[in-house]
Amino acid sequence: MSAQSKPGCQVFVGDSLHVLPAIAAETIQCCVTSPPYWGLRDYDHEAQIGAEASPDLYVQNLVAIFREVRRVLRNDGTLWLNVGDGYARNGGTGMHGPNAVVGNTRKMIQKRNCKVPEVWGLKDRDLMGLPWRVAFALQTDGWILRSRITWVKKTAMPESVKNRPTNATEDVFLFAKSIGYYYDATAVREPTGANLRNCWVLGPDPSNYGHPAAFPRELARRCIALGSRPGDTVLDPFGGSGTTGVAANEIGRDAVLIEINPEYAQMTKSEHSRNGKKPRIKAANTRVLFE
Ligand SMILES: C[S@@+](CC[C@H](N)C(=O)[O-])C[C@H]1O[C@@H](n2cnc3c(N)ncnc32)[C@H](O)[C@@H]1O
Repeated sequence: MSAQSKPGCQVFVGDSLHVLPAIAAETIQCCVTSPPYWGLRDYDHEAQIGAEASPDLYVQNLVAIFREVRRVLRNDGTLWLNVGDGYARNGGTGMHGPNAVVGNTRKMIQKRNCKVPEVWGLKDRDLMGLPWRVAFALQTDGWILRSRITWVKKTAMPESVKNRPTNATEDVFLFAKSIGYYYDATAVREPTGANLRNCWVLGPDPSNYGHPAAFPRELARRCIALGSRPGDTVLDPFGGSGTTGVAANEIGRDAVLIEINPEYAQMTKSEHSRNGKKPRIKAANTRVLFE
């Protein structure tokens, strides 16, 4: 992008594992993303991440995708990864309790809960610790783990549990490709002017335009502002409704999104339209280009 031109957003419709190899090495400054959580939602595609038979396969698949992300990042690039946890469960598929039928969670959550996975010594009702398992696997694969940010949700999802506290936080990990990575500590500060802390209290956006798992635009904006300069390119390999793309464009960065489900890719288009852009579909179901 030249200093004068408007930032753009390209959306590739496809499986990240296959689309990422088509992106040139060292062309992306910063990746801000949230993959599907294991066994939670059905994104209606056979190659979707999160539908693996066991959580260790899920971790392996994420490592493979983020290895490609590392290749396309510049040497001073960063990865900001929001990933959620889940409980190992045995049985239970009713209309109430932890397996209640909610939105599009039915198929996946019930499949996950039919039997405790035979990995990591998991027992019935164990919290699987997936965010850290993913983080450790990425660390082993070559990423430098620099921070764990706790996202405190202003509006937490109600849970009917009586034997543990309700979950109201998620993790966002900051990984670097190399130790000389770009980080603009002046881009986001505490209200006092102090260096930003690793605890972000954020509410949901007023509308996520129908995506069941959109993250707040402010979360994406902070990661992008800290991890890139105006004119840089930001990547989200699990684009969803395009929150990362909208946030990137708002602060003068180009965006490249990959989304496996064409319906969600269309939501990206709608988000950009609401944002005053004129989206143009270049080739339906292969590549949607917003200019
Ligand atoms: C948690 S959502 C991301 C939501 C997004 N951050 C937003 O704010 O809208 C994860 C997305 O990844 C997509 N997805 C799942 N497997 C994928 C794959 N292999 N390649 C690309 N996208 C995938 C799903 O369809 C889903 O929209």
